[in-house]
Amino acid sequence: MTKDLRVNADRMLASFNQLALIGATAEGGVNRPTFSEAHLAARKWFREEIERSGLEFHTDGAGNHSAILTCQPSNIQTLLLGSHLDSVPDGGRFDGALGVISALEVLRTVKENGIRLNVNLEAIDFTDEEGTLVGLLGSAAIASHLKPEMLQNPRGGRENLVAGMKRAGLSDESMLSAARPKESLAGYLELHIEQGKRLERAGINIGIVSAIVGIWSYRLSFIGRADHAGTTTMEDRLDASLGASSFTLAARELVLKEFPNCVVNVGKMDFAPGAFNIVPARVDVALEFRSPDEEEFKRLNTALLLLANTEATQFGLELKIEFLGKHSPSIMSDVVQKMYADSCEALGLTHVSLTSGAGHDGQSLADLCPTGMIFAPSVEGASHSPREFTKWEDCVNGANVLLQTALRLGM
Ligand code: GLV
Ligand code: MN
Ligand code: MN
Repeated sequence: MTKDLRVNADRMLASFNQLALIGATAEGGVNRPTFSEAHLAARKWFREEIERSGLEFHTDGAGNHSAILTCQPSNIQTLLLGSHLDSVPDGGRFDGALGVISALEVLRTVKENGIRLNVNLEAIDFTDEEGTLVGLLGSAAIASHLKPEMLQNPRGGRENLVAGMKRAGLSDESMLSAARPKESLAGYLELHIEQGKRLERAGINIGIVSAIVGIWSYRLSFIGRADHAGTTTMEDRLDASLGASSFTLAARELVLKEFPNCVVNVGKMDFAPGAFNIVPARVDVALEFRSPDEEEFKRLNTALLLLANTEATQFGLELKIEFLGKHSPSIMSDVVQKMYADSCEALGLTHVSLTSGAGHDGQSLADLCPTGMIFAPSVEGASHSPREFTKWEDCVNGANVLLQTALRLGM
């Protein structure tokens, strides 16, 4: 009976642990930014693991890596399951990796039990989910969201993108050729860690995602004038760092007071010329903000840009604004959410509906096919950090919900 089918938890753990060694850091996390040596090594390992599992390997123009289990001859739809093997700099072992390994484990379980679904199954590792270069790159390419201008001015810098694509044997042209027709996909399922504390606090096994927040990014440049840091009076300085820091504090206040459903982050500041004894002539600020609601997003966007202007003017600075891309908020499929809930109940697992404050490839896929995500509890909510941890039992619960939902969708 397929309802009694479970993943092989030991085999899944062995794969998870092998993967965690690739790009492992002394702090217990992994460092696998997109197209770094460690990332490419993880993808090589994934390919070998696919072949060891007797599954078919496939890669596309966007560098996405997949395991394929053909249940039916060609011309049939594919049910996609997956996540990503890239990480943020000095990230954790679970973000993305759990989704890819559990997807692979679902395929292995279906294969060894000789189940012939009405769809083919594909376990996919999407390129650059984390946004080291572009963000949701592989899934955007599949969903026809990727546009040439996104490759020309990526948030990670064009030079880094070109060098990375070269290392991976990819190009702008190949990236833009990876789109898949809507009719080819039966759905997209992903298991991910929650990256927050809601499940742990409530003592609930599984989170069923109702919507994923949107993300907008900008580079804001506050431009002043380089001067001698010892001989220039405080009054005479055009100090770019003042605009940048004052903006950061004011943006926090703005979001706290007026946009309670949103978050804002200044994740990086680059000072030029950048020396102890020179007044900063220019500070480039990496700005990102998120909202689950498109209308609120527009209002926050206007308010933040206005604020940046006000702060620049206050310190006599010039402001340069560079838009680096946006991912819209996405609603998950009702049908898939219901199937996840049914699977949880059949497995005796508690579940709750929640929104995702993190970006995920499901955002790209939601326009293309019925898409749904589940979360496993994160210990202390830690993520994008080596402290990231999910109990193995919770990972296995998530993988079993993924398996049972894939069976429901694919039967
Ligand atoms: C990806 O994990 C993101 O939310 O930035
Ligand atoms: Mn992730
Ligand atoms: Mn992440």
